[in-house]
Amino acid sequence: MLIQLGYREEAGGQRTERGSSRLPDRGSHSGVVAPALDIRPARIADIRRVEPLINDFARQNLMLPKSADQLCRHFREFVVATDAAGRVLGCGALRVYSESLAEIASLAVHPAAHGSGIGRRLVERLLEEARGLELSTVFALTLKDGFFHKLGFRTVPKEMFPLKVWADCRNCPKLHACDEIAVAVGV
Ligand SMILES: CC(C)(COP(=O)(O)OP(=O)(O)OC[C@H]1O[C@@H](n2cnc3c(N)ncnc32)[C@H](O)[C@@H]1OP(=O)(O)O)[C@@H](O)C(=O)NCCC(=O)NCCS
Repeated sequence: MLIQLGYREEAGGQRTERGSSRLPDRGSHSGVVAPALDIRPARIADIRRVEPLINDFARQNLMLPKSADQLCRHFREFVVATDAAGRVLGCGALRVYSESLAEIASLAVHPAAHGSGIGRRLVERLLEEARGLELSTVFALTLKDGFFHKLGFRTVPKEMFPLKVWADCRNCPKLHACDEIAVAVGV
């Protein structure tokens, strides 16, 4: 599988001309898994890669936009998926709301890498973190409920998560016309 990210990273993380990285197929579920894929906590320098990843999808109304400032303030909540060349192929965050509840937020995989199992690996890693924190429930608000159902989440009423509504939804332009679906899983 050839993943065209549309840029090439050089030592120092500078984005230069269009490039690609070879990620060999490995027969698994529907798609392909990059064997060299690493899922690790985000570093502050990753934010310049994470920000366009999220905001490209936000412009398509697939997720909430995030400013670089917001991402810097919350970068410790993030994990990133990187390939053998260290390029960021995906990201996701675990946002804790209470002693028992957390949200998977800002989950995004580079379009050229969709279907490679990266989204699954990011969610599994965030659920592992949630278990480590001894939380009991993880939820997400999403337009991709089918993806989350594959990972064991169930659709639940949005009203179950008033803290989320207080924290994010009140500032969302779609507040009164929210089309996102709440999904949750016990951890
Ligand atoms: C949703 C998203 C993160 C999935 O990432 P991905 O790496 O393409 O997904 P994976 O390859 O890990 O897929 C895991 C499983 O979910 C399935 N799946 C993926 N996207 C799906 C979708 N939209 N609907 C239903 N199933 C889906 C895959 O077929 C696979 O199933 P399998 O294991 O039975 O073969 C990615 O499409 C994305 O970044 N979308 C845009 C941003 C977005 O909507 N983020 C979610 C915000 S909460």
